[in-house]
Amino acid sequence: MRLPRIACAPAWSSDVSLSSPRKSVLQRIFPAVSIAGVLFLQASPVPAAGAAATVHPELWPKVTSPLPPDPALEARVGALLARMSVEDKVGQMIQADIKYVTPQDVRKYRLGSILAGGNSGPDGGQYGTAAQWQQLADAFHRASIDRSDGRPAIPVLFGIDAVHGHNNLVGSTLFPQNVGLGATRDPELIRQIGEVTAQELRASGIGWTFAPTLTVPQDNRWGRSYEGYSENPKLVAQYAAAIVEGLEGAVGTSQFLDADHVLATAKHFVGDGGTRDGKDQGDAEVSEAVLRDVHAAGYPPAIRAGVQVVMVSFSSWNGVKMAGNKALITDVLKGRMGFGGIVLGDWNAHGQVPGCTNEDCAAAYNAGLDMLEAPDSWKGLYRHTLAEVKSGAIPMSRVDDAVTRILRVKMRLGMFKGGLPSANPLAVDAVHIIGNPAHRALARRAVRESLVLLKNQHGLLPLDPRKRILVAGDGADNISKQNGGWTLTWQGTGLTNANFPGATSIWAGIDAQVKAAGGTAVLSVDGTYRQKPDAAIVVFGEDPYAEFQGDLPNLAYRPGDDHDLDLLRRLHRQGVPVVAVFLGGRPLWMNREINAADAFVVAWLPGSEGEGVADVLLRTRDGRVAHDFHGKLGYSWPRTAVQTTLNVGQADYHPQFPYGYGLSYAHPSSVGQLPEVAGMVLETARAGVYFAHGKPARDFALDITGANGKSMDVTATPSGAADGSLLVGALDYKAQEDARSLRWSGAGEASVALTTTAPLDLDRETNGDVLLVTTLRIDALSPEGTTLGVSCGSGCSARLPIGNGLAALPRGQWLRVGIPLKCFRAAGADMQKLDSPFRWSSSAGERIAIAEVALGTVADRTLDCRQH
Ligand code: BGC
Ligand code: BGC
Repeated sequence: MRLPRIACAPAWSSDVSLSSPRKSVLQRIFPAVSIAGVLFLQASPVPAAGAAATVHPELWPKVTSPLPPDPALEARVGALLARMSVEDKVGQMIQADIKYVTPQDVRKYRLGSILAGGNSGPDGGQYGTAAQWQQLADAFHRASIDRSDGRPAIPVLFGIDAVHGHNNLVGSTLFPQNVGLGATRDPELIRQIGEVTAQELRASGIGWTFAPTLTVPQDNRWGRSYEGYSENPKLVAQYAAAIVEGLEGAVGTSQFLDADHVLATAKHFVGDGGTRDGKDQGDAEVSEAVLRDVHAAGYPPAIRAGVQVVMVSFSSWNGVKMAGNKALITDVLKGRMGFGGIVLGDWNAHGQVPGCTNEDCAAAYNAGLDMLEAPDSWKGLYRHTLAEVKSGAIPMSRVDDAVTRILRVKMRLGMFKGGLPSANPLAVDAVHIIGNPAHRALARRAVRESLVLLKNQHGLLPLDPRKRILVAGDGADNISKQNGGWTLTWQGTGLTNANFPGATSIWAGIDAQVKAAGGTAVLSVDGTYRQKPDAAIVVFGEDPYAEFQGDLPNLAYRPGDDHDLDLLRRLHRQGVPVVAVFLGGRPLWMNREINAADAFVVAWLPGSEGEGVADVLLRTRDGRVAHDFHGKLGYSWPRTAVQTTLNVGQADYHPQFPYGYGLSYAHPSSVGQLPEVAGMVLETARAGVYFAHGKPARDFALDITGANGKSMDVTATPSGAADGSLLVGALDYKAQEDARSLRWSGAGEASVALTTTAPLDLDRETNGDVLLVTTLRIDALSPEGTTLGVSCGSGCSARLPIGNGLAALPRGQWLRVGIPLKCFRAAGADMQKLDSPFRWSSSAGERIAIAEVALGTVADRTLDCRQH
């Protein structure tokens, strides 16, 4: 039986006394919860959905809005509302993604808002320059205020995920991701970062960010842990006000939402960081007190700072999807907490409410959401919502409340004062704003402050820059890796240093300072050298990921892949003092790596200004320490790979390094050999890979079905269908026989498939715009045509004719070809129970080779659903 999460809920205070007896800690933290109640909860099973999801608004903090109703503004809102038709109103309540909506659509449907999702950019690309973003923003703005049809002109809101700086803009200043900012313990720095982010947004013509993320992650297996500042709700609450004030300007001053500031979005309300097993979009099985005191801690301060938008979480609370939770949204957030701005849904999250689809969800509006994010589904949603408003299924009073809030926020932002996005003074001056030296200096300072020193044996750090320093590891000269997800692309993948003009890699920063001091720095990713160095800095860590793609089954660092460990150990064996610099979005179990290094620095995901690392790791050329370590852990560091819910103050708190830990030059301390017991078997299993290295993934089989309908497992090569219609051989892709060749001959259709007896649920991936990526080589195509299909149990399948799409590809060349998963759903597949995610069918004349079949977001060619 699983116990409710309260058993490991954080109990902490800002100056945590780890030895304080548990009872008093709990009493301090949950004053409203009696100890007897806690013990009772610990012993009882998870209550059924519904029962445990009862909300008591009167027990939630009462917040007084800093923005009392402004009669003049409300009168303008009311007058405009009175002129709007029901069509105008419904349009305002919908947000579409720029990948799927045109300015003409915005004019026609009077959409209230557009967004640029992580993979959407100007001109169909994924990211763009300031000029391109401005042009795009202008085009949509113009369309929204076009009065040629006699309808009221209501400027469209344009939102984007600027979550660590304006991270979709080429050349922008990229700050450390929130996990690093949490370690700085510096709210004033956070405020300034908000200010700079707002300026760079305005410079690109955008006035709204989907930030800050006020999540309080309790299980670091969650792929979004790095988007949170800390596991500690008090720290999150402290930062909430600072970041909102930075982005929006101080409420009550003339700077509030002026031309230098933007709308902020507190997200994801509420419980996103409390889901069971750290599963993204999962279920937070916690008591109402924990939901309020831990997960909602950031919202009252954000509201008091004047936050204008709250985004509702994808997740559930005790079985109830947040996008349908009226009690928490209407009664608590809008009622008790007095939130007067826009409540926005997350990316098609409404489609997960029981009885809803992405295109139809009265329940979400009725629960109190004012605007639904319907990236690709907006047209259907518009049609259904309009019908539901007309039929009364969504009451007009609800519609008017939603539209009033939307117009109110637009007016507060000064959108009706005219002026194209590109006319904002910061946009006019974009070249001097975006990525300017002052902004980069702030980001570099943030990097310095965020570094956490776990270990520094024999005072190895700071290094003398006049010596010979080897810089190794695949993170050393890798700006993409030092930024992580939500960077230019949604997943932060598919990028090279050339995508980051003006940015500095960690290596480049070290090199510059060592050179200036007269020393020698050598970059060698694999750590080999000709002349023995005086010390080595090895930069390694997690590769970029976003959302559910970063979810882990446990906290082991790269189980089954020891190449970083081997590099550290090899240098150590060779007698080279080793400084390890870890890049990553969360604490992971890596005691072996820590043991293999003499000094160990956690750099989190520092962003574009990699030189901040050299600032702290190196002495000045005259031997001084210019910058000491400052960062303290905002998340507890695990002692084993299975300590998945490890939060300060909980009962049985035995971290490897506790919350708040961090050494400095001024306060050194010796760290002995750490235990190397992971608590689990460290074996690899890359999620979402179905075929690689010449074999199907665990639980998968490679099958062929001949023209005679007979199927067989391919366990050895060469082999083939008995009727000779399809032959399978082995060939080399990157290693010996790590790919399969497929040759169709004989009459009739034959297929090759990857099948599993443990059906896959790819629903979330499908909604998230994930691709099925096949690494293949086309030698010849069958004139009869090729299809790629999936199957989903008996009588359930979908097939896409891809022959035309393939015909355009070069022959004889390895390529990653992607097909959006949602094409299979559109073709009728049930993506929740796939027993084959890949079935390639063709007939005589086709010859191809396949090296890998996997989920991904990057491909050399992406076929679109209509293209085939
Ligand atoms: C994420 C949000 C994000 C939104 C728009 C969603 O999938 O959960 O955090 O703001 O997409 O990109
Ligand atoms: C979008 C993200 C969004 C995600 C939802 C992606 O395709 O680009 O912005 O958050 O889907 O899972």
